[in-house]
Amino acid sequence: MQIKLRPEEEQDYRLVEELTREAFWDVYIPGCDQHLLIHNMRTAKEFVKALDFVAVLVDKIVGNIVYAEAKIKNDDKEYTVLTFGPISVLPEYQNMGIGGKLINHTVKISREMGHKAIIIYGDPEYYKRFGFKVSKEYKITNKDKKYPAALLVLELYPNALNGVEGIFDEGRIYEIDEKEAAEFDKGFPKREKTVTKTQERFLELVGAEA
Ligand SMILES: CC(C)(COP(=O)(O)OP(=O)(O)OC[C@H]1O[C@@H](n2cnc3c(N)ncnc32)[C@H](O)[C@@H]1OP(=O)(O)O)[C@@H](O)C(=O)NCCC(=O)NCCS
Repeated sequence: MQIKLRPEEEQDYRLVEELTREAFWDVYIPGCDQHLLIHNMRTAKEFVKALDFVAVLVDKIVGNIVYAEAKIKNDDKEYTVLTFGPISVLPEYQNMGIGGKLINHTVKISREMGHKAIIIYGDPEYYKRFGFKVSKEYKITNKDKKYPAALLVLELYPNALNGVEGIFDEGRIYEIDEKEAAEFDKGFPKREKTVTKTQERFLELVGAEA
């Protein structure tokens, strides 16, 4: 399978929003709002255009990853790091290595750009294969000064986070207004929302500490 990665272009925006909706639908909650999230992210100041990639099979976009700048903050200092998401692969193309390709490619570019680390909320079972570790190993907490099992850190060069401690702060870029999301979704084909097993796994993970 010949998957090519290339930067996302403006003409891809709507297709990528549709693919994001396909990928996230019913996975974490009944329905999803990540298609609004990505729509709004692209105009946010924290958005990192150089790391916005699509995966293409022949001429069909089958995957996408986007990044934003985030901070680690403590009483004295703040440090800029990267975070990514949404990352999406169309359901019928999942488990073929496309998500992995998007991550490995953009991790390499992030490293070349000189960034210290990538910090995300995600499933440790999936992300540990890329070298992500629980944030507890780095003394990086969420806003409640806790170490959630889903808060994961990838250092981009040895000792990049030496001496760096604090709260991981994504700013407001990942905040979603539910009413705006419901309104935005009306511009897409109508789809039934259902309760699924994957949503249970998500709730367990959100509540768990490392
Ligand atoms: C997560 C996602 C991007 C991975 O893309 P992909 O192309 O399917 O991933 P790859 O083919 O590179 O890797 C597949 C492997 O990851 C595992 N995997 C995928 N999602 C996982 C998850 N949430 N938890 C645990 N493992 C997961 C698969 O079981 C498979 O494992 P294997 O290699 O041992 O067989 C894709 O499944 C997706 O779009 N999911 C819906 C949206 C989402 O959850 N995005 C991530 C949260 S921001």
